[in-house]
Amino acid sequence: MIDCLRGLLRPVFSAPGAAALVALALTAGAAAQTVPASTPPAAPAATVPVSSMSSRVLACTACHGKEGRATPDGYFPRIAGKPAGYLANQLLNFRDGRRSYPQMTYLIEHLTDDYLREMAEHFAALDLPYPPPPAPQAPAAVLEQGRKLVQGGDGARNIPACVACHGAAMTGVTPSIPGLLGLPRDYLNSQLGAWKTGQRRAHLPDCMADIARQLTPDDVSAVSAWLAAQPVAAGGKPARTLPAAMPARCGGVAEVPVAAAAAR
Ligand code: HEC
Ligand code: HEC
Repeated sequence: MIDCLRGLLRPVFSAPGAAALVALALTAGAAAQTVPASTPPAAPAATVPVSSMSSRVLACTACHGKEGRATPDGYFPRIAGKPAGYLANQLLNFRDGRRSYPQMTYLIEHLTDDYLREMAEHFAALDLPYPPPPAPQAPAAVLEQGRKLVQGGDGARNIPACVACHGAAMTGVTPSIPGLLGLPRDYLNSQLGAWKTGQRRAHLPDCMADIARQLTPDDVSAVSAWLAAQPVAAGGKPARTLPAAMPARCGGVAEVPVAAAAAR
């Protein structure tokens, strides 16, 4: 199964097996109806060209859901509509071992930076609706603790407000800060846990690792319960800027100013 998916991602014209697979995958679509098998690849495209991005990324939608819009009640994270720089950073992180999910790494380990960036841009450009959130999975007091941490942080414990970087609407900031909404609770728990243990790493300085280490297991549980239960406002589009400088410097995020005290 994974080998089939990996075939989709090879440069298609040098891999006839992959072309056949893509053709197979497309037969269900109206696009497949007009083109005989002998049509040269460069023919004017009445169909999706075999090498096109939408055929390549069939390998991804197997797990990430149709068009990358995974539902909020499984484990797979949605990728549609997330900031392009963030998605590209993650693909590099999986390929280069800073994040670990062996099946995904296997799919992309042979791909170049440019190819990964093109896929990131493809998914970032998708503007697709979000489903309503699942019902809250924690008691009101826990949800309130989560809301407080996300919106206000906890100065006494050196935890900055999550919204200070992820944006007031929590939909992230272009091009490199992801939103926090529309994600499964299990996925959120797992990511914060992975940062605590060093299994997930970002480019240095890894601000999220520092923040995750300040969170207790109860904090993580409260934050994930509250976040997972929030509806996604305004189509989930990432903001263009933050209203104030970020409270800490984060690797891979070059575009947003950092508060003077944290910039050193
Ligand atoms: C076998 C299932 C599977 C396939 C196929 C797959 N992924 Fe993933 N992907 C995952 C899982 C699971 C995660 C979360 C892993 C973790 O726990 O960190 C993930 C995470 C990601 C992330 C990070 C999302 C975020 O919010 O940080 C991106 C980006 C991504 N995948 C892109 C892709 C692309 C592009 C493809 C196709 C080339 C692909 N994936 C194929 C399972 C898959
Ligand atoms: C100083 C800025 C900053 C603050 C404050 C911050 N984050 Fe982040 N966060 C980031 C950046 C940057 C990334 C992307 C890291 C990467 O490239 O892997 C990120 C990524 C994440 C992710 C991964 C999302 C995904 O799709 O996989 C989660 C979850 C997250 N942050 C939760 C939180 C929570 C919860 C808080 C508050 C307790 C918080 N963040 C506070 C900057 C910040």
